[in-house]
Order: sequence, then C-alpha cells, then structure tokens
Amino acid sequence: MNALTLFKQFDFEQLNSSDFKEDSVRELLILPLLQALGYQQTQIVRSKTFINPFVKIASGKRKLQQTPDYLLKVADNYAWVLDAKSPNENIKNGDNVEQVYFYAIHPEVRTTFFALCNGRAFSLFRQDTQEPILYFELKEIANYWDILSGYLSPNSFQNGKQFVYKSVTKIIERQADFDYLNRPLLEEIPVKKQAAKRHFGVHGYFTKQAWNIVQAYIQHFSQEGDLVLDPFGGSGVTAIEAMMIDRQAIHLDLNPMSFFLVDSLICPVQLTELQESFDKIKTEYLLNEPKTKKAIKEILKKYPYPKGLNLPKSSDVETIEQLFSEKQLAQLALLKSLILKIKQINIRKSLLLAFSSTLTKINLTYHNSASRDKNAGNSAIFAYYRYRIANSEINLSLINNFENKIKKIISAKREMEHKINADTFNNLQIIQGTATNLSFLKKESIDYIYTDPPYGKKIPYLDLSIMWNAWLDLKITEQDYQQEAIEGGEHHKTKESYNDLMRQSIQEMYRVLKFDRWMSFVFAHKDPEFWHLIIDTAERCGFEYAGAVSQKNGQTSFKKRQYSGTVLSGQLIINFKKVRRPKAILKANLGVSISDLIMQTIEGIIAKNDGATIEQINDEIIIKGMELGFLDLLEKEYKDLTPILSDNFDYDKEAQRYTIKKNKKFTSHIDVNLRIKYYLVSYLRRMELEHKPAHFDDIILNIMPRLKNGITPENQTILNVLEDIATCVDEDSWKLKTQGQQNIFV
Ligand SMILES: C[S@@+](CC[C@H](N)C(=O)[O-])C[C@H]1O[C@@H](n2cnc3c(N)ncnc32)[C@H](O)[C@@H]1O
Repeated sequence: MNALTLFKQFDFEQLNSSDFKEDSVRELLILPLLQALGYQQTQIVRSKTFINPFVKIASGKRKLQQTPDYLLKVADNYAWVLDAKSPNENIKNGDNVEQVYFYAIHPEVRTTFFALCNGRAFSLFRQDTQEPILYFELKEIANYWDILSGYLSPNSFQNGKQFVYKSVTKIIERQADFDYLNRPLLEEIPVKKQAAKRHFGVHGYFTKQAWNIVQAYIQHFSQEGDLVLDPFGGSGVTAIEAMMIDRQAIHLDLNPMSFFLVDSLICPVQLTELQESFDKIKTEYLLNEPKTKKAIKEILKKYPYPKGLNLPKSSDVETIEQLFSEKQLAQLALLKSLILKIKQINIRKSLLLAFSSTLTKINLTYHNSASRDKNAGNSAIFAYYRYRIANSEINLSLINNFENKIKKIISAKREMEHKINADTFNNLQIIQGTATNLSFLKKESIDYIYTDPPYGKKIPYLDLSIMWNAWLDLKITEQDYQQEAIEGGEHHKTKESYNDLMRQSIQEMYRVLKFDRWMSFVFAHKDPEFWHLIIDTAERCGFEYAGAVSQKNGQTSFKKRQYSGTVLSGQLIINFKKVRRPKAILKANLGVSISDLIMQTIEGIIAKNDGATIEQINDEIIIKGMELGFLDLLEKEYKDLTPILSDNFDYDKEAQRYTIKKNKKFTSHIDVNLRIKYYLVSYLRRMELEHKPAHFDDIILNIMPRLKNGITPENQTILNVLEDIATCVDEDSWKLKTQGQQNIFV
C-alpha cells in the first residue's frame, strides 16, 4: 500500500461507533501506517515491559504504570515510540502526551521522537518540544506523507540512536515551460519583519532586508531547484529564504562576520545536544563568574580577549578593549573559553553565534531605549554606525542574555530544519570573497540574483564589524579593505573607487547570470548620480532595464529620524533582465523643461496620494528620471529637492506629507496636452515593460487622477494625444509608436 492509497478505503465514520476502541485503532490504522512507512514486523516491538519502570523527574522518581504500545527499531536501536489511544482521547496535550514522553526519556528507550494516534489524528512530538511538531487528521494523511516519512521512516534514522535528522527529500521537478521572461513587476509588498524566527532576534546586522520581501522576489522570478545568488549577502536573508522555498543558493560577502553568521546559523545540530552543551556551560560559568575586582583581574590574566586593535577615528575610544568595562571583558573572556572547549564543531559554532549576538549588548556602546526595558536597546554600532560610547554603562546579565540568544537560535534552527539540515547543507554555498570577482562561478550558471549592495558613504562595514570579528578571531586583511565597495571609512575610499567596484560587480553579475533571467538590485540612495551609474553600467553590460519599484524595508534609519524631510528611508528595487537583444531605455523629449517635468511629477504623486512623503516624491522622481531618461539632468541640477519642495508646497509636519499650498491649484502653466502626453508615455512604457495590455479605459483611469487640477480633460482630448504617440493594436490595446513613427523620442 502506498501513501496515496493508505486509508482510501477506510470509512472514518466507524470511529464514531462505541465499538471502535483502541485495539481497532491499532489493527486497522496504526499497523498499515507503520508498514507504509517501511517497518518490517521485526522492527516493531509491541508492549515492551521495563526492567526498571521508573523515570527521574525534577521532583524525584516517577513509576510508569503502563508500557509503550509500539517501539520502532532501526539498526538495533529504538528510533521512536508510538502509543495508540481510543478515538475520543486527547493526543495533543495533557496526561496522555506526558505518559508517552516518559516512555521516550526512559533510560531503556531514549528516543528523540514520540507519537500518539487515536484513529482520528496523529501527533508527533520531540522530547524538547511542548507542542506537537506535526499534527494531522488521519484522513488527510496523503497531504502530510512527505513530511511524516521524512521524520519517521526507517531511512530517516541513521545508525539507530546516533541518527541525524533527515529532511523530507522533496523531488523537485523544474518546469521546462516556466516563463521566466514574462514575469510582471511586483507591486510594493507589506513588510512582515518579526514573523520569521530564523532572522528575528538571532543576530543583528547592518540594514537587514525584510525576509518576506526577499522571499516573494525569489518565488516570483525563479522556480524550485533554481540557483540563486546574492554577492553582497550580509546576514544571509537571500540565501536562507532561497533555501526555505527549495532553491539552491550562493551567499557571498567580503565581511568574515557575514560568513560566520550564515554558516553558524544553518549548520545542522541535534537541538537537544545544543541545549545540553549550553546547560553545562551555564553551570560552569556561574561557578566561575568573576564578580570581585580580584576575580576579574585573575580571569583577565588567564583567558585571552582582543586588545590593541585600533578603532576608526570617528569612535569615542581608541582601541577595542576600551569598548568594554573590565567586568564585561572578563565575563566575555570566560564565556568564550568555555565555548571553545566544546568538541562537536557545529555545536561550538552555534554557541559562538549566541556569544557573538550577546556581544552586541555586552559592551559600552550599548544604549538604552528610553521607551523600552533595559534589554531592548541596541549597540550604537548598529544604530548610529559608529563606536559611540553610551552615557552610562547598562548593567546587563551576560549569562541571561546568552541564554536568551541560545533560545532564539534553537527556535531559528528548528524553524529551518526541514529545509536546511545535514542533507541539504550542500545546496547552500557560503563564501567569503568579493562580488567583483565571481570567477569561481561559470558564466551563465545562475538563475536569479537578488542583491542589496552597500550605499556609498553610509556604512563602512568592515570598520564597524571590528568588534565582532576580533572576538571571533576572524581576520580582516588589507586586501579586504581595498575591495570593500564603500566611500570613506578608515581607508578614505573615494567615490571613484566605489563606482569602479560597483561597475566590476555588475559586470560579474551579468557574466554569471543565465540568459532570460532576472537581477533585482536593491538601492536606497538619494543621489541620482548613483542611479545613473547603476543603470548605465547595467545597460552597458547588456542588461535590459525592466522597471523599478519603490519598496519599504520596515526600518527608519537614525538619520531619517533626525532630519525627516530631507533623507530617504525607503528603497527601490530596480529590476533588470539579461536578454539577447536588450532594449535601451529610450530618452524622451517631451518638449518641456526639466523643472516643469519635476513639478509635474511632484504634483502628480501628490494628487495620486492626496499628499506625499519625501520618500514617495524622491522615489517617483528617480523612477521617472530613469524611465524618461532625464536622470543625468537630475544629477546635475536637482540633487536636493528640499528647496523646490519648501518653496512650492506646504509641509504637514504631523502627517509628514507635502501638499499643494493652501488656496492654490496645481500649476497649470504646462499645456494640458503636454501633461497628458507625459503621463501617457510613462504609463504605456510601464505597461510594455510589464507585458500588460493598455486598454483605453485603464489608460483613462490611470491618468485622470494625475491631471486633477481643475481642468479635467475630456476623454476625447486624451484620445487625441494618445493617437499622436501610440497605435492601437489588438482591437483595444495601445502601444507607443517606435522611433521614426513619431517625434517624441530622441
Ligand atoms: C547592504 S549590506 C547587505 C545586507 C543584506 N542584504 C542583509 O539583509 O543582511 C551590503 C553588504 O555588502 C558587503 N560588501 C561590501 N563590499 C563588498 C564586496 N566588494 N564584495 C562582497 N560584499 C561586499 C558588506 O560587507 C555588507 O555585508
């Protein structure tokens, strides 16, 4: 019998009869299920009696009154335990579950997994969980078969007790007809930042991408089994999300800390073993925790800690050890020495990850958040992007913070273990290296690139990671600094070098991407020169620009909070395609001055949203600038929009929105036909890029609100302009005329 036919013939109505008791559950449901999982009679031990029927519990000993219904054996060891119950019994929590748990922890059994089945449903637990890790109605078994057999089939247990948890090996069939090229652009996606344990609270990093946005992009632009690359990978959101949805992934970053974060987060471990190692370390730590001055001095003599390394000039102190009080140094040094004694490498790495995450709080740059409790602050390194010492030292318990981080890491690993484990580990390559040299990758080998590179001056990553890298014994070389794509920093890197490194990395991304595939490039830069560089470089390499989408990332930067109104907080995702015959972005000559175009665009976005934030305005202008080809002019004359905005619009401080000045209408000095033309070109071009038809009714609906200024044109006026610049194809779908057919493009 296979999983699909299992229980197909079984009438579940029988369970409602009072004659259907536990023994029927065993014979009619459990036995076929065990056979379908692959267990032979010899592997099924029924009603084992205990030599010593006691288990140790916190309050003493407990006698087991009954015996387990089934013990399943693999390679002469018990692999899991299963108890049958009658149909109306609770198998999710309470006494029944506790009873089977005691079987599982009994020294004569010792299995990680235990399960219960009452004929209606099946629940699977692991020793270290309170809730079932799997629960389903038996009539739905076909839908849960992959996951169930991934946990419990004999093949999932290697060497009996020494088993390594094995994933559901999903068979991935790539569709030959997956239409990569004609993917529409995604609309803005709401951020769900806290929902993923694998990212939230595990370890801080600079400007983390929101996981659900990254996942939605990967899902949309690639298919299962595809190879996804992020050459500026940071904390690993791209690679991890790619794995979570059954892609293979390559994570690359120059910062050794980035390699460490991803490697230690995804390395497979037995979670119970990790918990046990933590418990041992905690006990030993508490026995030796230095509290007096004398004890602190002794620990500092005995255990190594980083010292003498210079910090960047912008820091409040000169060397690394000055970032800590003596007590913090001694406690960290002791904890690290205990972790380094752990032999099992993945357990050690996971503990070091918790240590490194604890380090973020246990230092003198940690500052309190006024509104929240003292544990909810942050290191100035992540918040202000410099080593800024807090006004006063915040006394946090090292061991409590470490424990909290271990819990987060265990939850993160548990959330990922179906997808990232001993079997799938090799599907995710983690590399420390530079995006400017991807020579380890063959040309045309990647299916999708999602990347979020550094934004010029904002964050000198290597300088700011010194604290973590030093404690983790990770070295940063002079060559790393040379290759880092930033402006400024301790190495006074120039804008030219930044531009050059970005250029080289875009070239490399082009080389390794397959044809007819996409690259999504995140950018949160206010300077149009940079947009120009990206678009220009990408086009020169052969990419085709497919459209940019404004996308919030759920963070408000410190600068934004300080100077709201002049600094961007949003980001754009610019999408490119690698096609054999790329179209360049056409430059539009609309017969109006750039300043009029800018006013038009600002008014358009204000009209559309009934008031607009600085981010909405900036994003719209940059997108229009790119699409209509006046970005280079923006770069020269309109670097900062603040003067135009404050001269021509009102600012509603509370709502943080610009609006049309009171008692003023939208400017009407631009001929209405030109305004219509401007919006039409923009709309039709976007539809073309998205491969969507542009029907006349949709055109009207899209551009009418933007023309809202008291002079609303007749549909006929719009049609006249439309006929001038576009042709009607397929009955009622409009397309822009190509060069030569009309005169708006140069
Ligand atoms: C904006 S962050 C990426 C953050 C990431 N998206 C996340 O969600 O965590 C940019 C990253 O680029 C890395 N970087 C800078 N120069 C690099 C280079 N030449 N090659 C590879 N990575 C580089 C930095 O170390 C940093 O981690």
